[in-house]
Formats: sequence, C-alpha cells, structure tokens
Amino acid sequence: MSQIINIYNLSKSFSVSNNNLVIFKNLSITLELGAIVSIIGPSGTGKSTFLNILGLLDREYLGEYEYKNKNTKKLTKSELNYTRGSSIGFVHQFFHLIPELNVIENVMLPYLINTNKSDGYLLAKNLLELFGLKDRITFKPIKLSGGEQQRVAIARSLINDPDLLLADEMTGNLDEYTANEIFSFFLNYVKKNNKTLIYATHNNEYANKADSVFKFSNLSLNKIK
Ligand SMILES: Nc1ncnc2c1ncn2[C@@H]1O[C@H](COP(=O)(O)OP(=O)(O)OP(=O)(O)O)[C@@H](O)[C@H]1O
Ligand SMILES: [Mg+2]
Repeated sequence: MSQIINIYNLSKSFSVSNNNLVIFKNLSITLELGAIVSIIGPSGTGKSTFLNILGLLDREYLGEYEYKNKNTKKLTKSELNYTRGSSIGFVHQFFHLIPELNVIENVMLPYLINTNKSDGYLLAKNLLELFGLKDRITFKPIKLSGGEQQRVAIARSLINDPDLLLADEMTGNLDEYTANEIFSFFLNYVKKNNKTLIYATHNNEYANKADSVFKFSNLSLNKIK
C-alpha cells in the first residue's frame, strides 16, 4: 500500500499576546492510503488544530508534512488550493453550509471551483439521491433538519471524489439517534469507496470503530489502538 501522509516532528504553537502557547510538539506519523483513523483527547489538546494542518488550511508549523509524497510547505498557493479542492474533503461540526445557496448548489460549489466540466449538477444529484435527499435539492439549508444538513455537508465533501476525508466532530451537534445514523452511513461510504479518513471525536464508541486510534495528551499524539 502507498502512503498518503508522512509527518515528521510536527510542532504547533500560537503566539497570544507575546506568549508562545505550545499546542503539540514533535509529532511523527505515517498513514497509508485507505487508513481509517480517529483522534481523541480532551478539549483544547489540539485535535482541530491538527486537522486544519492536515487539511492544508494552516501551514504555520514547525516540522514537515508530506501529503502524497510532496512536501506541503513547498506547494505554491495555487497548487495548495488545487490539492485541497481536488483531493481533500472536510466535514465540520457545524456543517458550514452557505445559507443563500440551496442544497444542490451547496454540494456543487467545490466542483464548480475546481473544474470546467459541466456534469456537476448530475454528480451532486446522484450523491444527494444516495444520501436520501432527492426531495430536498432545492431547499435552503435552514429548511433542513440537523441530520439532513450534515448529509448535505458530507455530500459536498465528496463531490470532488477526494482521497482524504477529514471530519472534526461531525456528529457533535446531532442527537444520539441521528448521530449514529450519520456516523455509520459515512463510515460505510468511506470503506466502500476506499477513502482515507481521519476524524476527531469525543465519542469513544465512534473512536473505536477506526482501525487506529490516536490520543492527544501532554503535547503529544500517541497511538492507543
Ligand atoms: N488561532 C488561535 N490562536 C490562539 N490559540 C488558539 C488558536 N486556535 C486554537 N488555539 C488554542 O489551541 C488549543 C487547541 O485548540 P483546538 O481547537 O485544536 O482543540 P481541540 O482538541 O479541537 O478541542 P475541542 O475538543 O474543544 O474541539 C486551545 O487551547 C485553543 O485555545
Ligand atoms: Mg476541536
């Protein structure tokens, strides 16, 4: 199997009013394509910070991050945007749908940004059908339930057929029943389509569904399963 992520001595700190706030130090981790990995650890230990770095949203760190064998610090701004858009899908706790756009427009948007092809509508429609939202495609997000909004956000994360999916407490804002439904649906999709998935969660039951579990504590990230 080939590797998708190689991280060497990754350290992250924020400077807050002239103080250096260290979040984590010297993380090294290698992940194979198709890996399913969960990240746990108490609030404030750096899970979201780490996912933002993995998702190429933050390049302010020490150490090396190779994504698909390329040093991400050496990518130009446009290579970075392209990699992020075409190869990485992000699902957040608070969905982050664009309220002015309807369901299918939200799902199509990353596709329109990334390609000149004209089949975005059809692709989005197929995904939404698969996700049980066929009858909701012209709804604005505000007219949807939380679980439906998250399914739209998941469809949007998949529209460019990414290799890597990053999910940051994707069920944190849903009731238990809906959370279970969304989580297992997403995990099944990821497995069936051989995606690589890294997700942060506070739910131990979900965390244990991953092949490997990593935990943040004492400024480091340790493999506990
Ligand atoms: N832009 C920033 N400037 C300064 N400090 C920050 C910034 N972003 C995050 N932090 C700090 O970094 C630490 C880690 O935050 P992060 O959001 O990664 O934690 P987390 O593990 O995801 O927590 P939670 O489980 O609550 O989501 C926190 O103490 C937070 O205050
Ligand atoms: Mg977080």
